[in-house]
Formats: sequence, C-alpha cells, structure tokens
Amino acid sequence: MLSTFNKPVRFDEFMQFALYHPQYGYYARGERIFGNDGDFVTAPELSPLFGQTIGIALREVLTRCGGVVYEFGAGTGQLACDVLHTAGDLISQYNIVDVSGGLKPVQLGRLLAQHGPDVAHKVRWLSTLPNDIHGVVLGNEVLDATPVRRFKWHGNGPLEAWVQRHNDELQWTWKPADPLFATTIQALHAAHGPWPEGYESEIAEQSAAWVSTITERLSGLVLMIDYGYHAAQYYHPSRNQGTLRATSRHTAHDDFLVKVGEQDLTAHVNFSGVFLALSSVGGELEGYSHQGEFLLAHGILDIAQQQPDFTHPVRGALMRQNLNTLLNEADMGEAFKVICWSKGIDAEGTALSRAFLTNDRSGDL
Ligand SMILES: C[S@@+](CC[C@H](N)C(=O)[O-])C[C@H]1O[C@@H](n2cnc3c(N)ncnc32)[C@H](O)[C@@H]1O
Repeated sequence: MLSTFNKPVRFDEFMQFALYHPQYGYYARGERIFGNDGDFVTAPELSPLFGQTIGIALREVLTRCGGVVYEFGAGTGQLACDVLHTAGDLISQYNIVDVSGGLKPVQLGRLLAQHGPDVAHKVRWLSTLPNDIHGVVLGNEVLDATPVRRFKWHGNGPLEAWVQRHNDELQWTWKPADPLFATTIQALHAAHGPWPEGYESEIAEQSAAWVSTITERLSGLVLMIDYGYHAAQYYHPSRNQGTLRATSRHTAHDDFLVKVGEQDLTAHVNFSGVFLALSSVGGELEGYSHQGEFLLAHGILDIAQQQPDFTHPVRGALMRQNLNTLLNEADMGEAFKVICWSKGIDAEGTALSRAFLTNDRSGDL
C-alpha cells in the first residue's frame, strides 16, 4: 500500500487516500470508528437530544422544502433517527449521501431498531449527488473530514506539503506552491498576517467546491454543524501549526503520516471560506452561531426535561452530563458552530431564522 507513495503526492491526495480509499481508507472500517469503543464520539452519538433539537428547529422550514431531507455523511444513522423522531411527521423522504457507502447496513439497522419499517421506508441512499437538491441539506462533522491542502509560509515564496515514501515510512516533501495556490496563500497572509517564517496551515479547497456545488443545485436550506473558526481566528499568526489533527482511540496527535487508514485525519472548518463559497453562487446566509447557543435557542432544555429518564438517578445523571458537553463553552458548545444558508426559498419568519436573529455571529465571517 505504501508503494502508492513511491512518487510524491500532494497532501490533499494523501488525505483522500487515507480516509476514503475503498480498501485501505479509514472510513472503510465502518461502525468501529464511532462511539466510546471507537476513535471519537460525535454529538449525535453523545446524546439523542442533539438531533431531536435539530428536528424541532427544522420543522417550519421542512414544510417550505417539500418535506425532503438530504443528510451528508450520516455516520451510524443516529442523527437521522433523532431528526425523524421530532420531525418525521413532516418528512416525506430522507436521503442519505455518504462517501463511505459501507455504513449503509449500520444506518439501516439503527433506523429499523428505533423506528420500525414504516419510518425506515422513507429513507433512501444516494450514491451520487443529485442535480437538483430541493429540500433541507444537513451535515454534522462532514466538512472537517474533507481533504485539505497544507502550506508553509516563506517570505521568498510559499511552499506546499507533499508526501513521499522513503524506505518503510512516509515523509513530508515541501515544494514551491503553484502560482494559483501561492496567490491564495499570499492573499490570506495580506489579510491575516504577518505570519512568522515557517508558519503552517491549511486551505480547504475541496470543501469550498462542495459548498458551491450544493448551493448551485439547491432550492432549499442547508444546515451544517462542525468545529472551526472564522478566518481571522483560523489564520491568526499564533496558530502557527494549523488545525490538522490525527485521532485514534480518543487521542489527538500530529503524527499524520503514520498508521495510514487506521487513524482519522481532520482539519477545522474555515467558516469564512464556507461563507465566501456559498455567497459566490447566490446562497443567502441565514445565520452563524455557536452550537450551544443554537441548541438552547431551539429548546434543548425543554426537550431534555420531557424525557422519561431525565430525573432517573443514574440514566438521568448521564443524560445531564452529555447535555452539558453539548452546551458548555469549554466543551462542544463554543468550539462547534452552526452555519445555515438558503437559496430559492423564503426562510424568513421561521423559528430557525428568528432564533439566529438573537444569536447571530455572522459579523465574524
Ligand atoms: C466524522 S464522520 C461524521 C458522521 C456523522 N455525521 C456523525 O456526526 O456522527 C464524517 C462522515 O462524512 C462523510 N463524508 C465526508 N465527505 C463527504 C461528502 N462530500 N459527501 C458525503 N459524505 C461525506 C464521511 O464518509 C463520514 O462518514
């Protein structure tokens, strides 16, 4: 497998291979990735309250989008189960689009176990991106799992990271950035520098392309949740090692080139880049806020209190602990952001757009 890298390959191609190669890629491992026994815990795995609150937030918008949902990167299917729990009566079709198609049996299993065949039959799996996306697009921790290009700042010309095999290990090779990439890096430096010599960071070209394509094909609304920053934080001179990280067994580290396909690789989302990409093709920003603010605005505490287990001494305590992790500023509450945009529909006056009015941080973008 390492022979793939006998010749140097650009870092984003390496990341694509390491995550998504159908045989050797990390996401070919299936369900073993998620949860306490896997490598990381995402919000839907942590608590059903996350997806149930999103379902509530989307109710009014769903009626304006024909009751159709497109969820990207659906993981174990838990977010789908929870959104269907609180908005299933308004959902006529729930489409799952995942580059790791191996997760379909896991997703179907969860849907059948939690909802039975009547609800599960609303769910369809799509292997390609539809040409027309009329509906609500949803994705949790998808953009951070998109390959990035990595650069190093040098006053006499920026460099780009490539990866090459030397004997039995992979090593970095730095090459002069091509003219187009160099121009992008220099523009970021002009806006957010000066950076020290050797400053490293990432540019999420593929993620921006994905946002533009989705928005071009959209008649509806997009809600994406992920960890990340706006550009001034992302490219702050002090963040001189970028945001790339490897994760294995709940431990994050920076040995990116080892255990290829056995560890997750992610980069934080540059939400200003997302905003730029959606605006360039006619998308209209509905709002940008911290995850904690978003969930509170849509009544997560009320939903929690309605759960039969909420006051149970053991199960209730765990539920409250997980709720706290979702909301707390020191945990996921602030590190994770919600960005929402629309095209071709009027979302004004819905609970979703009203809630953003009180928590909107789009001025940061
Ligand atoms: C970190 S997992 C998150 C899974 C799930 N959303 C959750 O919160 O538990 C990222 C998922 O996004 C999928 N993914 C990444 N890029 C994608 C794309 N362009 N289209 C569809 N799925 C994608 C990956 O295959 C993976 O299943």
